[in-house]
Amino acid sequence: METHEITKRFLSHFENKGHTRVPSAPLILDDPNLLFVNAGMVQFKPYFLGEAPPPYPRATSVQKCVRTPDIDEVGKTTRHNTFFQMAGNFSFGDYFKEGAIEAAWELITKPQSEGGYGLDPARIWATVYEDDAEAAGLWKKLTGLPGERIQSRDGKDNYWDMGVPGPGGPCSEIYYDRGPDYGREGGPVADEDRYIEIWNLVFMQDVRGDKSPKHGHKPIGELPKKNIDTGMGVERVATILQGVENVYETDLVRPVIGRAEEFSGRRYGSDHTDDVRFRVIADHARTGVLLIGDGVTPGNDGRGYVLRRLLRRIIRSARLLGVHEPVLPAFAAVVRDTMGPTYPELVSGFDRIEDVVRVEEEAFLSTLTSGSRIFDLAAEETKRSGGSLLAGDKAFQLHDTYGFPIDLTLEMASEQGLTVDEEGFRTLMNEQRQRAKADAASRKTGHGDLSEYRKVLEQHGETEFLGYTDLQAEAKVVALLEDGVPVSRVGAGKKAELVLDRTPFYAESGGQVADTGVLLGDGVELKVHDVQKIVPGLFVHRVEVLDGEIGIGGALTGSVDQHRRLSIERSHSATHLVHAAVRGAYGKRAAQAGSLNSPGRMRFDFTTSGGVSADVLTEVEEEVNDYLQTNVEVNTFVTTKDKALELGAVALFGEKYGNDVRVVDMGEYSRELCGGTHVDRIGQLGLVKLVGDSSIGSGVHRVEALVGTDALKYVRKEQLLVSQLASTFKVPSEQLPSRIDDVLTRLKNAEKEIEQLRTQQVLGSAGSLADKAEDIGGIAVVAEKLGEGVDSNGLRALASDIRGRLGDRPGIVALFAPQGEKVAFVVATTKAAQAKGVAAGKLVPSFAEAIGGRGGGKPDMAQGGGTNPAGADQAIASLRAAVAQVG
Ligand code: SER
Repeated sequence: METHEITKRFLSHFENKGHTRVPSAPLILDDPNLLFVNAGMVQFKPYFLGEAPPPYPRATSVQKCVRTPDIDEVGKTTRHNTFFQMAGNFSFGDYFKEGAIEAAWELITKPQSEGGYGLDPARIWATVYEDDAEAAGLWKKLTGLPGERIQSRDGKDNYWDMGVPGPGGPCSEIYYDRGPDYGREGGPVADEDRYIEIWNLVFMQDVRGDKSPKHGHKPIGELPKKNIDTGMGVERVATILQGVENVYETDLVRPVIGRAEEFSGRRYGSDHTDDVRFRVIADHARTGVLLIGDGVTPGNDGRGYVLRRLLRRIIRSARLLGVHEPVLPAFAAVVRDTMGPTYPELVSGFDRIEDVVRVEEEAFLSTLTSGSRIFDLAAEETKRSGGSLLAGDKAFQLHDTYGFPIDLTLEMASEQGLTVDEEGFRTLMNEQRQRAKADAASRKTGHGDLSEYRKVLEQHGETEFLGYTDLQAEAKVVALLEDGVPVSRVGAGKKAELVLDRTPFYAESGGQVADTGVLLGDGVELKVHDVQKIVPGLFVHRVEVLDGEIGIGGALTGSVDQHRRLSIERSHSATHLVHAAVRGAYGKRAAQAGSLNSPGRMRFDFTTSGGVSADVLTEVEEEVNDYLQTNVEVNTFVTTKDKALELGAVALFGEKYGNDVRVVDMGEYSRELCGGTHVDRIGQLGLVKLVGDSSIGSGVHRVEALVGTDALKYVRKEQLLVSQLASTFKVPSEQLPSRIDDVLTRLKNAEKEIEQLRTQQVLGSAGSLADKAEDIGGIAVVAEKLGEGVDSNGLRALASDIRGRLGDRPGIVALFAPQGEKVAFVVATTKAAQAKGVAAGKLVPSFAEAIGGRGGGKPDMAQGGGTNPAGADQAIASLRAAVAQVG
């Protein structure tokens, strides 16, 4: 049975039982605790907690899920998947254990001809939580499952929560026995490879606190109602119904392996190591494409980093399969074809997905190329020194500087008959990790434990934001925290975090920086430095008490720094207009990838497939400024998300919008979903001046602009600079470019001339240097340190000249020429010296160390360089000593 058929049957089964079919949520939801959506229940969390009334008593969905803690295990075992689909049925205070067990049993055992999965009831096992006799009894009563096929397990296996405080409950799991070929008898408690879990029924009834009942801790409360949350692993059921070995071989995953076989010419199933690589490719390609489809772009932290790791692991695995050409766009196309019927965003957004993977792959392949060069050098050095162990610091440098994965280093080393000091590598990696951890901990927004903030939110509700209309407001203090710990009072000179019931201060979000200002009360004055929504809905003011003391319940009047706020608003409105103009120029594929709206200055990042030309940016600037003259009103209104999208509002990928959204309109030109603050009319922007554009990697382009008075100041500064230059060069400003060109050309010619004169002068000194030759053991030795400015050609010419002047005598010429922080050298020997066995190249090691260098050459002439010019005198002494030994 095809996977699409499995999900279709699941949804119909539950729809027929009164469940509302709900589409999968995107993989990213606005939850600070969750990197990616990892279960079907995530989008329904507020209904379980009683935070929002459920719009339906029963729901069913097939949710796309990503779980990434075990990335390194993927492919090695056949159970780990980073992407999977979870089919679920949910009851919000409606049916409970009995309804869940009955409906699940019916679907899995009903014959396929009647719309079920037709699994043999004799192969089904169930588990229940500890002493959940009720569940065990229901299994027997409703399904006839014999007692010996119902096993009880502790919280580790049979209690489910989200891994963080929130809803949870005991569960009952359904297993399928794959038969004796797959492992030991004894049910799921004995062997989870033979008995595979296909469905988890969670009896969602508890509120879990900081510690999980999984580990024996008591729940801290009961949910308002008893609920059901189930999750059936679609890929696992497909494995069984398609009679294949593992999920990688099911109909929606195997085609990627097929494509990788075509690329590599190798076959899946013929070599274990290769198979792991094939599976990594198949798993990660799906996850990567689905993530990009939901708006994630590769980056260096958070979600972006996970995506980057996945994509790089695919490229690396392909390389280890012997494929050196780009593969990602081809794999992405296979994923689109297999998954597109369920997730149409993969088809409609494929151009963008393809752009993202292509650019990422190009960047990584060039990294691999430069890394390979460094690897070759390191390998050569190791062999030359007679060793066979590549140093740990080399492997670390490859990893750290060139992003070169360690297993590639291992593989390449073994191809050259070398091993790698893995322990040394790991020690350095650990040290680096510790540094990164310490660094993250010291960052100002690094709130590890959010529980206190959540408590404040639970107790007092969301902060009412007044700052769309008011820049001043009276409010009451509802919470105070010092270093994340609740306190009741804070006195003068102290810094603290303060939560008000209502506030005119904007908290940083959507790229708009936070407001600053003051809070005044009876005998108390506070300065507001920053405002962050540490948990959604809760505005946390970072304040410093300048005077007096403030306590919970205290009344304060907040005043936002108006001048600064207006300046920020101009930037934010400018960002919307630049966004609209960029979309006009580059089409919808130019998606916003980030922005920063600070006083007088805006930054806007967007993705493009190709380069961004200066001409287009000039047009963008012109179009925006032209449009400012219409002075249209900025309108904001709240509507439903669907309506807003219908009106053509631009929504950002990866942002979670509730059902009601705020739309910001600037005439017909720009319409975006946005929670930020804006000017009233766009004429207030005055001037938008683009001041910089750059590529920040992975196809993301950044433009920066100054707005209003700051733009004017910038233009004025540039103008002043130009007029200063014009007066220095004594030409009208429009002639400056040709004048500067002219001066530069003359300067270059003059430098060349000086160089030639210098060389002539040095060459002219050949006679006097030859005269200074000193006899060491019958060999005429000229060893000199020259002045700055002799290039390598001059050096060689001079050495030849001096050698010529030594005539038939056995002679050695060694010259050292400092060149800034480096030093070049040349050693030349006469025929007679060579006849005595003195070879120029052999003399180099005698002094190379002194100048921090290396080099080599033939018996008559050797040349090279070093990084320590100060060691030249020592080098000359060492050379003399070496000659004395020969002589
Ligand atoms: N939430 C449970 C799980 O993820 C069942 O849906 O396993």
